[in-house]
Amino acid sequence: MFSQLPTPTLDPILSLSVAYRNDPRPEKVDLGIGVYKNSAGETPVMRAVSQAQDVVVATQTTKSYVGLAGCEEFNQSMIDLLLSGTSAMDRVAAIQTPGASGALRMLGDLMKIAQPNTTVWISNPSYVNHKPVMEAAGLKVKYYSYFSADTKQVDQEKMLSDLSHAGKDDVVLLHGCCHNPTGADINFDAWQQITSLAQKNGFTPFVDIAYQGFGEGLEEDAKGLRFMANNVEEILITTSCSKNFGLYRERTGAAIVVGQSQEHVNNAKGKLLTLARSTYTMPPDHGAALVKTILKDQQLTRVWKQELSEMQQRLLNLRKSLCDELRNSHNTSQFNFIESHKGMFTVLGFSPEQMSRLRDEYGIYGVGDGRINIAGLTEKDIPYVADAIVKVS
Ligand code: LMR
Repeated sequence: MFSQLPTPTLDPILSLSVAYRNDPRPEKVDLGIGVYKNSAGETPVMRAVSQAQDVVVATQTTKSYVGLAGCEEFNQSMIDLLLSGTSAMDRVAAIQTPGASGALRMLGDLMKIAQPNTTVWISNPSYVNHKPVMEAAGLKVKYYSYFSADTKQVDQEKMLSDLSHAGKDDVVLLHGCCHNPTGADINFDAWQQITSLAQKNGFTPFVDIAYQGFGEGLEEDAKGLRFMANNVEEILITTSCSKNFGLYRERTGAAIVVGQSQEHVNNAKGKLLTLARSTYTMPPDHGAALVKTILKDQQLTRVWKQELSEMQQRLLNLRKSLCDELRNSHNTSQFNFIESHKGMFTVLGFSPEQMSRLRDEYGIYGVGDGRINIAGLTEKDIPYVADAIVKVS
């Protein structure tokens, strides 16, 4: 049976980590996968996570199964983090999933059952896994205009014009904050206008928010989503604890559905549980147990919020330092847009060939679509990376 299989194509992000690891050059810099590094170039276990781990080890008495939905206290915590204060709190349900990609797939499968003819509109460009996951769920995918290659900002007019054609069988996938890969976020006005379009045309918004806390702060980053959730009948949400709790390898995320009534979302949750059963049965527990432990404890929550805000601040500083270096040492303001982008990523506007040159000639690993991960930089890399960017541009 295997003789019929084609040679595998490599994942454009995950394959970079392997190539980076195998690169012997000491000056190499990993700006590929979306992982945060501190100034020592390490991805630390966050302080609150470390403390919660001690609590879990000391208090956990069993490793028996938890349940199809994972940890319900964790699920409620995710709902609270994203939607607290909105009218959606009375008509929402969530399941814990293996990361946000697991959540994307569960919601993709749910849409395929609930509304088989769904077309999912994704931004051009979008997170590299959005299209494969939606297509794997059997859904059609269409792109809406998003990023202007000239301004390196969102082309709001074009985006809204495209979305005005989305109708009642359509789902519009938005990035809650820290757009992946561009770093260019929609502003609050755009959130309001997309909400009006959803009300008028009947499409369902779907918000993937995997970087809450890395843009402008935990509350601010959920502002657009909250406005939307207050003003539409149905909304799908995926979230991740990979980045804001640093729990990458624990695969901790959630799929959340907001509907017209609690009864509707209970039915949706029931279907999600059946889907989970036939896919992986239950999500892994450890990450969710840590997040729950943190969010149920005021002191641990304070420690977590403090460190997350330090990480967010560090990203802003790195963006500024890189732009300062480009301006001061290379006399170019061509890359000033880097400072206006949000979260971990920035699209440089480089072609795949230029990204290959960065990798082959300088050992700087960004994604082929031109994305670099600012959170992968350390302060000492900045002159080297700025110099390479200028040479390749
Ligand atoms: C990324 O975009 O680098 C991350 O979200 C990692 C992933 O799962 O693709």
